[in-house]
Amino acid sequence: MKISVFGLGYVGAVSCGCLPELGHEVIGVDTNPLKVKMINNGQSPVVEEGINELIAKAVAEGKLRATHDVEDAVLNSDVSLISVATPSNPNYSPNLTAVDAVVRSIGATLRKKQGAHVIVLRSTVPPGTTEERILPILLEASGRQIGDGLSLVFNPEFLREGSSVKDFHNPPQTVVGSLGEAGYEAMEAMYKGLPGKFERTTTQIAESVKYLCNVFHAMKIVFANEAGSVLKACNLDGREVMKIFCQDTQLNISPAYLRPGFAFGGSCLPKEVKGFLTMARDLEVPIPTLSALLDSNEAHIKRAYDMIAKNGRKKVALFGLAFKPGTDDMRDSPLVVLAERMLGKGFELAIFDRFVKISRLLGKNKEFIEQEIPHLDKLLHETPEAALKDAEVIVIGHADAEARQAIIAHAEGRRIIDLSGYADLRSAAGAHYEGICW
Ligand SMILES: NC(=O)c1ccc[n+]([C@@H]2O[C@H](COP(=O)([O-])OP(=O)(O)OC[C@H]3O[C@@H](n4cnc5c(N)ncnc54)[C@H](O)[C@@H]3O)[C@@H](O)[C@H]2O)c1
Repeated sequence: MKISVFGLGYVGAVSCGCLPELGHEVIGVDTNPLKVKMINNGQSPVVEEGINELIAKAVAEGKLRATHDVEDAVLNSDVSLISVATPSNPNYSPNLTAVDAVVRSIGATLRKKQGAHVIVLRSTVPPGTTEERILPILLEASGRQIGDGLSLVFNPEFLREGSSVKDFHNPPQTVVGSLGEAGYEAMEAMYKGLPGKFERTTTQIAESVKYLCNVFHAMKIVFANEAGSVLKACNLDGREVMKIFCQDTQLNISPAYLRPGFAFGGSCLPKEVKGFLTMARDLEVPIPTLSALLDSNEAHIKRAYDMIAKNGRKKVALFGLAFKPGTDDMRDSPLVVLAERMLGKGFELAIFDRFVKISRLLGKNKEFIEQEIPHLDKLLHETPEAALKDAEVIVIGHADAEARQAIIAHAEGRRIIDLSGYADLRSAAGAHYEGICW
């Protein structure tokens, strides 16, 4: 393929060095004449292991050159990758001036070009940018429509500085959001031969994935550093603890607990988080991120309450009261907190939880619920249908398949607020469905 690469920084320079390895011809473009000159001299404008050799080889083989001339680059390529910088504005939103300018100039050149062209945004941008901001600029500048020889793609870059050449050849996955089918096909052809899943999605989802990756990586570093600092204060080796911690690929380094849903609770997580925070405080180790966990969890319960209270309906059926399905343990259940809040605000509440039977409650669990919701026996219903009878709003903490069938059958004209993410409830006929994080 013939590819032009706009922006010869870390991302663009690595594309210029590595894409010829996959058999493509590349033209690099930058407004900085020094970077253009360096590429044409077979030198890398950035320092990265292995990149100098790749750029020198590609230039020597006639597979790579650079220019400042947008027309030259666009007229002599089928695909344009945009990897210009997106620095922060004073309020930390990304400054997209360079992206806008490149898209405008590529679009204007397309007026002079016959044949199809694929524009691929690789710079990191907030969700919605490609479709809501870049697309109108491109359509206006080019006078073309998507499908009319024009595709616009968002394809995030996952490389890490310091190991970028290795990362290019071994991506965790390739994520492509495209406006126009031809964009997906072009990206499949461009990355042919690279390992990892090729994920076709929307531009908005591809943009979000890239943002979340960076935030998550930052959060992992902060977690490891805060945890390690507390452990050090206990005369322990935080690295040794973390090494064993990371060996658990079922619960720790895995998709477990990464499904957006309702707040955490139960007899272990809140207690252990509080215990760890007290320990850190006693050791005088500041851990601002971990200290915010409980507030964040509380804010999520409030988010659910605000959704329920939004249009003032007061008759609510709540499915699930225990902290998770299949148990009757209600200690520190966020659904109990939510139920209490609704009762306190005068909601009429009917509750169904198949596993919670007042007559069978014992010990601490019984004490806890008697203190939190003293008249629970009057609110709990034996069947889903009984709980649903007068409900205007149906709140799903958790519900088994049989309960969901009943909900779907009684959904007409009611609001469903799903805190758990059951696929079958989304399409309940006649209901107004809303998920807490989706
Ligand atoms: N650096 C990374 O590790 C990394 C990884 C993934 C994604 N990203 C994202 O990729 C984008 C680029 O990052 P980078 O680190 O390569 O940036 P960079 O600052 O190293 O390079 C950007 C290049 O764009 C050039 N440029 C600016 N305006 C231009 C224009 N109008 N036409 C042509 N070239 C122009 C600049 O001269 C510069 O050479 C950013 O959005 C960044 O967030 C970076």
